[in-house]
Amino acid sequence: MSGKHVAKNQPSSFTFTDENKKKIEEVLKKYPENKKKSAVMPLLYIAQRQNNNWIPLAAIQLIADMLGITYIKVYEVATFYTMYNLAPVGKYFVQVCTTTPCMIRGSGKVVEVCKKHISEKQGHLNKELDSSWIEVECLGACVNAPMVQINDDYFEDLNAEKAETIIKGFKEGKLPNIGSQSGRKGSEPIQNRTTLLNKNA
Ligand code: FES
Repeated sequence: MSGKHVAKNQPSSFTFTDENKKKIEEVLKKYPENKKKSAVMPLLYIAQRQNNNWIPLAAIQLIADMLGITYIKVYEVATFYTMYNLAPVGKYFVQVCTTTPCMIRGSGKVVEVCKKHISEKQGHLNKELDSSWIEVECLGACVNAPMVQINDDYFEDLNAEKAETIIKGFKEGKLPNIGSQSGRKGSEPIQNRTTLLNKNA
């Protein structure tokens, strides 16, 4: 059993919208007739997008029925990958990378800020029900560690103060520009040194 937080209050049923049914038809065309079950991940993703960024258990059952596989097979996939949420997440959903490069560069402090300003426990909504956070593995932006993903965007080169400023901005519906928060462009050198020969930079 995964340690993922699964919502206690579940809707009794789930149906895909007509628009998403069409999307699913398109997805299924990409798989041979006898390999339709391999579409489990895109279908879970479509369900999550439709349902405010979390997947109810009724959607897991529906996907299992659509693909002709058992409920537990879909549940296993949904609980294994951190990108699937099985409980409501906030309008601002913060995923804090705590893998080694981010950890070495101070992601522990970013986690402390999330505990203080969002909720003590990861995977749970804050009091205002507008934000939540979880720890995740490497999000592939290690060169700008430590970093977080908020909804679909990355915010990089963080420290405790910068993380705090971002999270406090949620109350006013504000997010900073995406990318590096230290002022550097992309992952350019922090001290402007552009080549190993550029000794003066
Ligand atoms: S270790 Fe954090 S983005 Fe790779």
